[in-house]
Amino acid sequence: MKERVLILDVDGKYRELAARMVRDLSVYAEVLPADVPIERIRELNPIGIIITGEANMPNFSIPMMSIAGGNIMKEELHNFLYNKCGAKGDYTLEDYINTQVEQVRQAVGDKKVLLALSGGVDSSVLAVLLSKAIPGQLTCVFVDHGFMRLNEGDEIEDVFSKHDLNFIRVNAADRFLSKLKGITDPEEKRKIIGEEFVRVFEEEAKKLGRIPFLAQGTIYPDIIESGGQHGELIKSHHNVGGLPPNLDFDQLIEPLSGLFKNEVRKIGIMLGLPAALVNRQPFPGPGLAVRIMGEVTFDKLETLRYADAIVREELDKLNPRPSQYFAVLTDTFSVGIKNDKRTYDPVLAIRAVNTQDFMTAVYTPVPHDVLGKMAERISSEVDGVSRVVYDISSKPPGTVEWQ
Ligand code: XMP
Repeated sequence: MKERVLILDVDGKYRELAARMVRDLSVYAEVLPADVPIERIRELNPIGIIITGEANMPNFSIPMMSIAGGNIMKEELHNFLYNKCGAKGDYTLEDYINTQVEQVRQAVGDKKVLLALSGGVDSSVLAVLLSKAIPGQLTCVFVDHGFMRLNEGDEIEDVFSKHDLNFIRVNAADRFLSKLKGITDPEEKRKIIGEEFVRVFEEEAKKLGRIPFLAQGTIYPDIIESGGQHGELIKSHHNVGGLPPNLDFDQLIEPLSGLFKNEVRKIGIMLGLPAALVNRQPFPGPGLAVRIMGEVTFDKLETLRYADAIVREELDKLNPRPSQYFAVLTDTFSVGIKNDKRTYDPVLAIRAVNTQDFMTAVYTPVPHDVLGKMAERISSEVDGVSRVVYDISSKPPGTVEWQ
């Protein structure tokens, strides 16, 4: 039995920060609501309890600490864990991987597992973990909707074709584009893309015959935020994010559901995924389709892809890097001059933000010479852009994405 610390959370503010810091000090931490029944706490048998938020401490016979603000001192935490609670520090990600690999093997036996691979960090790490746990039994379906960034679909294919998994890439760009013909409303775009994704995935799943297990890259913050509890590797299939309830699976497996994002990244590196993939910026499911204002067309996608690649290439050089940065193709047209000819093309916006949690964000004060260089490169290397502007909105009031 591993030692564990419970984070009893009152107001939802610092629970994740506290849990991450405890884990970084090699002690397993689990988050529970502050009103969890006392019997449950006894069952879990923690070596210590940390209360996050303003609360009167109940009296336990276990060492306790209270954290009311976001300024958590590492030394203080270390002292609490190792001196007051007598922790040995037995939490390692190697152990986590080994335990999950063992549990997945037990649960799956010789049956097959299907995974919807998006190329995002979580599903990518999950794919590699499962390819180690149950080689030959995993099939990964990557639905390429055609709204990925420059070369991204090919990069994903390259990486995963090398692992022991049956990797299937479905090139569905034409299908998605024709569904979006004439659609300008952002919510409608998202809905259409979501529905089409499900259809394509379902069709592929049908072709593969019956696969009893569906793997999903749920991570610990998803569980904490939905008020659930970690520990259930397997639960009966219900409402998988974005996938239809009528998909014919018996069970869902979620081996990453005890991990924070930074831990998922570390595991990705440990399992041999390229750093560029593991440290990928967040990217919306509907992809570039929500970074093109108005109707999405093939030409606009091409313009945005090349401009976005330049923006990322230049901002990759900043130290420190912004949390997220990309280009947006607006539906505002302006007059310009190119090769002595008058042009009338869309305005391209550059967005870069700094944030901890993406709930709030501030715009990054990118130096003017860098902004100038991006504008210059875009105007000389990319067709279909009349001028370049920089978005200086923070969140709130502006969201990170434009749509
Ligand atoms: P907003 O625009 O809401 O974005 O400030 C916050 C973060 O979420 C990402 N985002 C999405 N991620 N599907 C996703 O998987 C989506 O539809 C989506 N929309 C926004 C966004 O890139 C930012 O990191």
